[in-house]
Amino acid sequence: MPGSSRIEGFHKLAPAERLALVADRAGITPAAVAPLGEAGALGLETADRLIENCVGTLAVPIGIATNLVIDGVEILVPMATEESSVVAAVCHAAKLARGGGGFVTSATDPVMIAQIQLLEVADPEAARIKILERRDEIRALCDAQDPPLIAHGGGFRDLEVRVIDAAGGPMVVTHILVDTRDAMGANAVNTMAEALAPTLAGWTGGRALLRILSNLADRRLARARCVWRTDDIGGAAVRDGIVAAFRFADADPYRAATHNKGVMNGVTAVVLATGNDTRAVEAGAHAHAAGTGRYRSLSRWEVTAEGDLSGVLELPLAVGLIGGATRIHPTAQACLAVMGVDTGPRLARIIAAVGLAQNFAALRVLATTGVQKGHMALHAQNIAIMAGATGAEIDRVARAMVARGEVRIDVARALLDDPSSGAGG
Ligand code: MEV
Repeated sequence: MPGSSRIEGFHKLAPAERLALVADRAGITPAAVAPLGEAGALGLETADRLIENCVGTLAVPIGIATNLVIDGVEILVPMATEESSVVAAVCHAAKLARGGGGFVTSATDPVMIAQIQLLEVADPEAARIKILERRDEIRALCDAQDPPLIAHGGGFRDLEVRVIDAAGGPMVVTHILVDTRDAMGANAVNTMAEALAPTLAGWTGGRALLRILSNLADRRLARARCVWRTDDIGGAAVRDGIVAAFRFADADPYRAATHNKGVMNGVTAVVLATGNDTRAVEAGAHAHAAGTGRYRSLSRWEVTAEGDLSGVLELPLAVGLIGGATRIHPTAQACLAVMGVDTGPRLARIIAAVGLAQNFAALRVLATTGVQKGHMALHAQNIAIMAGATGAEIDRVARAMVARGEVRIDVARALLDDPSSGAGG
């Protein structure tokens, strides 16, 4: 029987004490919560510093994407994902891309936007111009907040002021554009926005309310392009199928959401493996996909003059090497070491290439055999485990289900119960 969720002083307890209390209040055994307390490479002490009320960690598999050549460099890319087939798909797409030279990437400077909202401004159009006039003062104020960032070559870059017609009347919204170098930059730009807000309110007679970064980081774009030779991918019908699949996504938001989810299967896996903020990147990507006013495909696919398949991907990628979990998490550090990345923009470019590879693999399968055939082999293993198979039983049950074309928990249980099926232990 679950107990009360009101736990005074919970945050003051050690993680193990919290976990014991959680089991007690949830009305379950300590054994049922034990997996939560296994902190792996992160360690409970570090985990406890990352978030509040920490009781443990969640282990997610990390797979290595092989075969990638990005900007002429052979590279192994760690991907953290719970979804079967995701890593294999990138490996395969990258292998097929090698004939065309692999992936070419680029990125803008890592410029983050922070917004300052001013309400109750009597003359918003004049206020906009007044703020724009004082760019140098704004630059000085922003840069004064973060001397280390300036020392690393980052800092204030530009200013934009918009008058937004919102319900309840116009509001004046100032954007500061800040180069955050190798940091994701949330702390840097939020500090600047908070410092600047009272000054803007004073100049305009308005009232400052929100002061926060925008996750639509569209001044911080990463781009990847790649040509797959038609002969390498199964011929012109496959190539044309991929282009038709893209056109479907670009024309229809229902398909675009799934198409872009496929892109993000790759993107998020690398973002997570490197301890970066998956939600920030996801929010930015989807907002960018709707940038024309309609939600569309993040990638674009066409046929080259030589008749080969060209894919491009451009998306906001607010990722860094310092700050947040990236610096603290030993696994994230190990993942960065595997890739040998030494700048934030380089990481963003690698992620864009992985996103494009992931998208290629999904479209190729969708335009040919469909996803279920390949997916089922791995999925069948998960189902076998869920049904209680262990050791060698897992493969036997999984194979038997795939052979029957029936990958379901009830089938797995029946196969386990029936040794004559060849799957019993
Ligand atoms: C599954 O995780 C991703 C796909 O649905 C992507 C797509 O449909 O393009 C296969």
